[in-house]
Parts: sequence; structure tokens; C-alpha cells
Amino acid sequence: MGLESWMLVEDQGAKLSPDSDIKLNQEQALLTPYQLGPFALSHRIVHAPMTRCRCDGGVPHPATLLYYAQRASSGGLLIGEATQVMASESEYPDVPGIYTQEQVDAWRPVVKAVHDKNAIFFSQLWHSGRSKLSGCEQRILVQKFRCAARNSIMAGFDGVEIHGAHGYLVGHELVREHGESGLESSVQQNACRDALEIVGAVVEEIGASRVGFRFSPYTEYEEAKTSDQIELGVFLAKALNKYNILYIHVLESRSTTVAHDKNATMEPFRNNFKGSLVTAGGYTREEGNAAIACGRADLIAYGRLFLSNPDLPKRFELKAPLNSYDRGTFYNNSKVKGYTDYPTLEELNLKI
Ligand SMILES: Cc1cc2nc3c(=O)[nH]c(=O)nc-3n(C[C@H](O)[C@H](O)[C@H](O)COP(=O)(O)O)c2cc1C
Repeated sequence: MGLESWMLVEDQGAKLSPDSDIKLNQEQALLTPYQLGPFALSHRIVHAPMTRCRCDGGVPHPATLLYYAQRASSGGLLIGEATQVMASESEYPDVPGIYTQEQVDAWRPVVKAVHDKNAIFFSQLWHSGRSKLSGCEQRILVQKFRCAARNSIMAGFDGVEIHGAHGYLVGHELVREHGESGLESSVQQNACRDALEIVGAVVEEIGASRVGFRFSPYTEYEEAKTSDQIELGVFLAKALNKYNILYIHVLESRSTTVAHDKNATMEPFRNNFKGSLVTAGGYTREEGNAAIACGRADLIAYGRLFLSNPDLPKRFELKAPLNSYDRGTFYNNSKVKGYTDYPTLEELNLKI
């Protein structure tokens, strides 16, 4: 879906929630359509953002195109891998950026290939630094996010997701200042300040209905406790309402753990955020269906299962067996192995 078609559908209909007119297919709720602001999704199975370290020198490659095109389905939402808004050190090599003309030009055919399959594609915007910024650095970073958002739209993306999970953007002050019992609102405000200023600038640049925000209130890092993170997440969700952004994307568990935190609840975020709710973290097909059916979230993002099953929505529909993922090739630089060589059902010629 290009910019023109996005504009055409912008004002259509309100967000659908489980108690609205669309009747949920209770058993396969993931396959129920969903109106995500201007975007008419035909199912609820979202491709989660995943760094793959295959973009030599920060520039997308024809293999990047193939990877995303393989995972695009009509009316499906793909969120791209964390993409740098400026040149900076990263613990991962060969992650893409979207701050030079060369990068924007290289993203364009990738986005087109996804749109050719009638899917919706958001870029995940990322600054890889985790330390607290000075006032001057903060002002520069806000501008970098603003430019990267504009560049994303110029490359054809339908929108952007701001990466505030895993200790990026949110919570630096919290680690330094939080006390034993509860958080002062001034501490929360400080901890979310960078994130909210970036959201404000990005919304001003490309419009609220093209902006999502990801954070991870159930991930403990450094000294921040989960209870503090949840409290902070609720503060953030409430503050984000002011910007009318399209969705929040709440990560329930650490990306590297297989276990799903069953105690993680979406209720505080459901109750305090008025836009759409995407969640991720260890979901199986059955758990995703149950989560949508009970209204826990509007959309479920799948990481590792989507990485290893390019035709994941089709497999869920058919309740087909899944390819298992190979952790050893998550981040290697092969343009094929563990990247574009996971077979579809058709390629496996499996009869269900
Ligand atoms: C290889 C890999 C790379 C990832 N890269 C990112 C990333 O770039 N941005 C992000 O927000 N999360 C990233 N994650 C986390 C995933 O988006 C997702 O939240 C996580 O894998 C949990 O979902 P799952 O259990 O369905 O895999 C990554 C996960 C994996 C496995």
C-alpha cells in the first residue's frame, strides 16, 4: 500500500475491538480481520521486528527484499527490523539504517515487493544507544528520528514503529533514580521524556495514524524492577494517548528466552491506552487465538515462528506443522542460510 492508497483509506471506519460488529472466529481468532486505523488487515498475525545483521554496511540488500517478500501476505502487517536513525555504534554488525539517500533508495524496492503482495509494512526506527543523553544529544536525536520517519515514508513504508523496548529510549533516569517504593511522577516524566519528545516530532512529521511505539514493561534490566517497569509503562501508555498514535506494541518477555511469562498481563495497558494494542513474546498459535478471542490484544506479533515460517499465516490457517528455527543462524551474515531458505508448505509439498 503506497502513500496515495494510504490517504484514500485514512478516514475509513473506527478501530474494531472484540465487542464490535466483526464477529470473531473464536477458534481461529487470529484469522479475523482488523481495522488498524487506516489499514484494513485481513488477519491478526504480525511479523515482529527482527534484527538479522544481513545489511552490509547498513544498506538493505536484494536478500532483504526476498526475506520480507516471502513473509508478506495480503492484508498482513509486517514490522521491519530495527533500523538505525543515525550512524552509531551497535552491538550488532550490519544492521540497516534509514538516514542516507543510498539507504532510502535501497529500502524502496524492498517496500515495493511487500506492497506488491498487498501487505502493510512499518519500519522500526531505532537508536542503538542505551545511556542517558545530554540535552544537546537529545535535541539531535529527536531530529534524527524525525528525518528517519520522513525518509521511511519516502521509501514507501506505511508507517513507523519507534523502538522503546529492551532499554532503548525509555527508563534511563529510572535506573539511576528509582527508590524502594513506587515512582515519583517527576521520575516517570524524566524516564519517558526522550521517548515522548521523539513521538511528538515523528507524529508532527508523518501523522499520528502512521506511528506505533514498542516497549517492554516485563523485561528487567540493570536495576529496574518489573513492578517499576509496569508502573512506568502505564505512565507511558497514558502519556501516548495525547499523541493519538496508532498502536502500542507491548513486549511480554525477553526475546532470547523461550519461556513465555504467563503472568504478564495486558490489562494495565488495555485500560490506559486508547489506541490498538499489539503484543508479542512466546506466543504459539493456540495462545494467539486465545489472546485475541478474550480481547487481551488486537494483534499478536510473532518473531521466531515467522522467521522460520515464511508462510506463517497460511500454516496457522491450515493448522499445519511448523519449521523449527535455527538459533545459530539468527544473526549470521549469510544471505541465504537461516534467512531466505526456510521452506514454505508448498515447497515442502506437504499434504495437510
Ligand atoms: C533474531 C531476533 C532479532 C530480534 N530483533 C529485534 C529488533 O530488531 N527489534 C525488536 O524490537 N525486537 C527484536 N526481537 C524481539 C522480537 O521482536 C520478539 O519480540 C521476540 O522474538 C519474542 O517473540 P517470539 O517469542 O514470537 O519470538 C528480535 C528477536 C529475535 C529472535
